[in-house]
Amino acid sequence: MAFDIEMIKKVYANFGPRIEAARKLVGRPLTLSEKILYTHLWDGNASTAYSRGTDYVDFAPDRVAMQDATAQMALLQFMQAGRPKVAVPSSVHCDHLITAKNGAEIDLPAANTESKEVFDFLASVSDKYGIGFWKPGAGIIHQVVLENYAFPGGMMIGTDSHTVNAGGLGMVAIGVGGADACDVMAGLPWELKFPKLIGIKLTGKLNGWTSPKDVILKVAGILTVKGGTGAIVEYFGDGATGMSCTGKGTICNMGAEIGATTSTFGYDESMERYLRATNRADIADAANEIKAHLTGDAEVYAEPEKYFDQLIEINLSELEPYINGPFTPDLATPISKMKEVAAANGWPSKVEWGLIGSCTNSSYEDLSRAASIAQQAIDKDLTIKAEFGINPGSEQVRYTAHRDGLLGTFEDLNATIFTNACGPCIGMWDRVGAEKQERNTIVHSFNRNFAKRADGNPNTFAFVTSPEVVAAIAIAGDLGFNPLTDTLTNNKGEQVKLDPPKGDELPVNGYAVEDSGYQAPAADGSGVQVLVSPTSSRLQLLDPFAAWEGTDLMGLKLLIKAKGKCTTDHISMAGPWLKFRGHLDNISNNMLIGAVNFYNEKTDFIKNALTGEYGPVPATQRAYKAAGLGSIVIGDENYGEGSSREHAAMEPRHLGVRAVLVKSFARIHETNLKKQGMLGLTFVNKDDYDRILEDDVIDIIGLTTFTPNVPLTLVLHHADGTKEEITVNHSYNDQQIEWFRAGGALNIIRREAAA
Ligand code: F3S
Repeated sequence: MAFDIEMIKKVYANFGPRIEAARKLVGRPLTLSEKILYTHLWDGNASTAYSRGTDYVDFAPDRVAMQDATAQMALLQFMQAGRPKVAVPSSVHCDHLITAKNGAEIDLPAANTESKEVFDFLASVSDKYGIGFWKPGAGIIHQVVLENYAFPGGMMIGTDSHTVNAGGLGMVAIGVGGADACDVMAGLPWELKFPKLIGIKLTGKLNGWTSPKDVILKVAGILTVKGGTGAIVEYFGDGATGMSCTGKGTICNMGAEIGATTSTFGYDESMERYLRATNRADIADAANEIKAHLTGDAEVYAEPEKYFDQLIEINLSELEPYINGPFTPDLATPISKMKEVAAANGWPSKVEWGLIGSCTNSSYEDLSRAASIAQQAIDKDLTIKAEFGINPGSEQVRYTAHRDGLLGTFEDLNATIFTNACGPCIGMWDRVGAEKQERNTIVHSFNRNFAKRADGNPNTFAFVTSPEVVAAIAIAGDLGFNPLTDTLTNNKGEQVKLDPPKGDELPVNGYAVEDSGYQAPAADGSGVQVLVSPTSSRLQLLDPFAAWEGTDLMGLKLLIKAKGKCTTDHISMAGPWLKFRGHLDNISNNMLIGAVNFYNEKTDFIKNALTGEYGPVPATQRAYKAAGLGSIVIGDENYGEGSSREHAAMEPRHLGVRAVLVKSFARIHETNLKKQGMLGLTFVNKDDYDRILEDDVIDIIGLTTFTPNVPLTLVLHHADGTKEEITVNHSYNDQQIEWFRAGGALNIIRREAAA
């Protein structure tokens, strides 16, 4: 099931010559990120030195991974591409569609019944097209990828923004939309703007309560949710080599929360240990042979300020644990300050739930360190104050942690062991009482904490921290509790203090598993029937989108002017909507229902320009579509940040929105809009956002001569009869303009497959 070693050796054979050629071309030593990028060029050897942050480059990734929620649309699209088999090794992981409620023993069979149709579709389409299939309960995609598929120096893409997790094993792993995955599986190049590079030098050594999670929580505080946009973050230094491989995965994982293209670490002994522990000694041996190519050149790390676009230095010896939140992962508070910051902001201090898990922090090391805190609570006669839930990252981690007594320790503290799946992290949490929408606080070890994400309650204040701090705070039941300095009162009335966590980087007795949950595809899938019922409410075969009509877009209605944060969760909410991810028309009923209407500050309540009445966004857009009218969405900064889901682009496309005009885009979402044949535009002058009025009718001019680097013009027809023009930018290159003209990238792939 693991990566084919012969294939990896082939990849490694390219490293020497291609890196040498690239070094000559750019005329200086290379960072690790550049080495991986230049060895994965679609055309083989580099013929030019690429300009970071400017040039679009075609790459040849080694692998594609998809999770169940995004795989549905990716594979429905792939089926439309007309190819018999995937062109690169690919895998599907069933982890998002499993509700956490009563614990794995009840929840997993329930999910297998509830989502049977989807899992059967994914299993059959995987079988047919040569894709590895990981059943529900096998684990969270990124943990399973790290354990089985990631390899140092490799490049992969995945239909999930936390694909970046594989940087922990020295990959350049990038989250994409299903349309990109579809391209690569169809054997086409994958295009990316050559990233900028942020270097993070880690010195010193983690100690006490501080863990790898705190590195990225601190970095998120420094760089904010936008600071990594368009960049690869490369970590190096003694501090980097001193931490575990899965800890590196945690840091890379949350690179998604700073908007980074991806993050990575150079190959080192921690990666070698992890590869050997996960039965991949052959990969470790192969990597050892080309070690020097699997990390940045020594000159780069000696004078990093000369080679990176931005440099940050963190001394791990001085780093303190962080708690980030609420409602955004970049609001970083050192644990020593949380009591006063929470009080000053009026955040509810009583903690109702502590949750450990997610792709960010569900490794064996994470569970063992958190279990050491749980064990102390038992030994010191403390009663846990908050409810406590655990999602192991994979069946291999769960089986091993169970064998070693870690899960038993959590259970002794009344924890619920949920399925090896995303669960509360993706809003698949049937939390008792959430519907009452009471103000409350939870702490978790996940990566995201946007409003409503975990339990659908907008009044849940969610804080992100490390698993060991989650355990300590859950025991105390108090957000302001600082385990480094504070004591707790035990059942005998004594004051007791928790000792710093202890844990094992890797299981002392090795990993073990009985049934990993893997299903290999058929050697010849040509006779396999893909299962999609025409009456399904959850799966719908796709029809191609219409090509551009060849004219400027005139008379567009303003659908919504979104105010403030508008993530892909706001555009296409997860939680209960996840079950419609394979049915474009049904899921379109959630389009933009989380976006805040600038004009009344309400969600899902906008003016219908045809009737003058206010109503939900999807129904209003359906009314425009029925009337044959196009519309435009206006957005604020970093529009579409968050996940890679292309539904956030496909839904507006399906319902007849023609353009999205914003102050700035998150990278993946902008690309997704382009792939679907939508217009993604940005204000030249951001203040022009204020010129857009609620009753405006808008024309987009310049499309008949749509050209790279040439702005377009918008004409705003105001209700008082006046009109004004504004200039808008776009970042379409020639190929992307072709996508727009054809009505979407897939229309071009199908045309080529048929030719
Ligand atoms: Fe799943 Fe949450 Fe990771 S949804 S893939 S555990 S970010």
